[in-house]
Amino acid sequence: MLTGKKILLGVTGGIAAFKAASLCSKLVQQGAEVRVIMTESATKFISELTLQSLSRGPVYTDTFDEKNPAVIAHINLADWADLVLIAPATANIIGKMAAGLADDMLSTTLLATQAPIMVAPAMNVHMYQHPAVMRNMNELAERGVMFVEPGEGLLACGYVGKGRLEEPEEIVKVVERYFERLAGSASLPLYGKKVVVTAGGTIERIDPVRYITNDSSGKMGFALAEAARELGAEVLLIAGNTQSPPPAGIPLERVQSAQDMYEAALGHFGSSDIVIKAAAVADYRPAVQSDRKIKKTGETLTLDLVKNIDILEQLGRLKTKQFLIGFAAETNDVEKYALDKLRRKNCDLIVANDVTSEGAGFGTDTNIVNIYDAEGLVQSLPLLSKRQTARQILGLAADRIAGDRV
Ligand code: PMT
Repeated sequence: MLTGKKILLGVTGGIAAFKAASLCSKLVQQGAEVRVIMTESATKFISELTLQSLSRGPVYTDTFDEKNPAVIAHINLADWADLVLIAPATANIIGKMAAGLADDMLSTTLLATQAPIMVAPAMNVHMYQHPAVMRNMNELAERGVMFVEPGEGLLACGYVGKGRLEEPEEIVKVVERYFERLAGSASLPLYGKKVVVTAGGTIERIDPVRYITNDSSGKMGFALAEAARELGAEVLLIAGNTQSPPPAGIPLERVQSAQDMYEAALGHFGSSDIVIKAAAVADYRPAVQSDRKIKKTGETLTLDLVKNIDILEQLGRLKTKQFLIGFAAETNDVEKYALDKLRRKNCDLIVANDVTSEGAGFGTDTNIVNIYDAEGLVQSLPLLSKRQTARQILGLAADRIAGDRV
């Protein structure tokens, strides 16, 4: 059931830590690849060697004990995981997660990861019911952290009540159901579709130390990629220069110039169902790229620029089954220019943002867009987060592909 799934198991210091051995073993038996991080307190209850033997991999306890000089362990593990499972989770780690503290290997990795997190609490009943712990768990749940509720019964401390770590086989079932939900997304609107999203700005080199680029942070493209994934699509990101972190778990091809982006996009075009060009592509590049640093000489310097290939226009020409979504970053006459681009580049939809509006366009976490098709305005979206904007755009594309005209 869990074949090939990468599970990062965090073990914290409670008496239930001994059950982590059985949990680790069962996850491995189900085909999961398991890596373990233990807190220092956890090592008082169960030995590293036990979990190392059961997981068949190194056990991490110390942020500064870098086992492989080629990587930074907590970042590497954070990026590696398909799921982070903390079992047992003490009140302490739950509090640290809620507060965003990072003072050991586990808490640091938890801040660094963008993988989904599942927490199986285990503690004394009064600790579990403490308002601070309840508040922390609610806070985490609101952030999307999943919980495996503790069981009720006789606790190690002698009290009877809620706080006993759920049995390892039950935790494994919850993990399996989670992955089933993810995979069993056949009902999702973009299941089986391949979506290619371009993000960020291109870099056009002048010489080895200078280049022309623009203010695109990649946020809009990254949000679109995430929204496409949420709808069940297989997603590929092609990203130029970006300031914001790309979403974890989505394949990413890094490119520099417009030409690189064109080649990458073309390479995936045949197999894609939807292509979204959110990238800000330089229209021009230096006619000559000096292979040496250009020296300061006269009072002025003139750079000759030549036109770049228009990627979207080329894709529009080659289009067969692909649903093509362009973006238009405008400062004036937004509708006129957007519709002109839509027709010229043979797009199915164009998303226009007036980049002079506050909260819209480059670098912001929000956007304000109008979406057009060949017949005119389809949808006008108010100031929304780029994630919400992306969900609306992908929802519309999914409806159009399914033939439900909106
Ligand atoms: O990355 P962020 O900081 O989140 O900012 C988001 C954004 C403002 C970059 C994004 O919302 C946006 O508007 N992207 C398109 C920017 C742009 O280049 O617009 P344009 O009007 O110059 O180009 C129109 C379309 O043609 C775009 O889809 C562009 O990707 C494409 N194009 C342009 C030139 C070119 N040589 N090749 C292209 O494919």
